[in-house]
Amino acid sequence: MELKNTLKLRILKNAKAEELAEIGEISQEAFLRFGDYRDFISDLASDEDGVFTAMLIDVDRIAGFILVGFMNTKTGGLIADILAIALKPDYRYMGLGEELMSWAMDLVNTIHKTRNILYARLTVAPDNEPAVKLFRKFGFEFDGSDIGVYSTGVPAAYMKKLFLP
Ligand SMILES: CC(C)(COP(=O)(O)OP(=O)(O)OC[C@H]1O[C@@H](n2cnc3c(N)ncnc32)[C@H](O)[C@@H]1OP(=O)(O)O)[C@@H](O)C(=O)NCCC(=O)NCCS
Repeated sequence: MELKNTLKLRILKNAKAEELAEIGEISQEAFLRFGDYRDFISDLASDEDGVFTAMLIDVDRIAGFILVGFMNTKTGGLIADILAIALKPDYRYMGLGEELMSWAMDLVNTIHKTRNILYARLTVAPDNEPAVKLFRKFGFEFDGSDIGVYSTGVPAAYMKKLFLP
């Protein structure tokens, strides 16, 4: 898909306080149903060593973002965690989630060339239809391991995509 001509994908590096604040605000609105994620997500985005963040920028404002982390396992393999994906309401349902997921999965595939990724994983509310559809498009499936509920009581489940060694 061609991006709207004002939109650009940018990787977050040396995050400025304003950028982290904007990511926090987007998170607060987008994840309201699941709890208050404002500070949690902006803190994760500021951790440049372990977490990779890409943003869609529209002129000079953040339209959405995705965060990816990598976790070591005891067997030496890695788990890729899609930690968060969110778009501002005006930017939803026009395929931009796909742009962010493509960036994240390209990153995971690149790392898989030198490190063994066992699987990629994310947490989703099973009734979050647009999100589940998007993740299925990228090969994620529910694996039956229900991880419980978000702090607001909304059910949460893992979706996973396995990687071959
Ligand atoms: C989830 C999110 C990232 C998806 O990105 P998006 O760019 O809006 O989604 P897309 O435009 O790619 O649409 C995804 C699918 O949902 C469908 N969809 C669109 N509007 C919908 C609606 N109101 N209800 C159900 N499905 C809908 C689309 O048709 C599309 O499926 P298709 O490609 O098979 O037609 C985005 O909607 C968002 O930021 N939501 C709020 C935060 C959130 O829920 N994040 C995920 C938490 S795990």
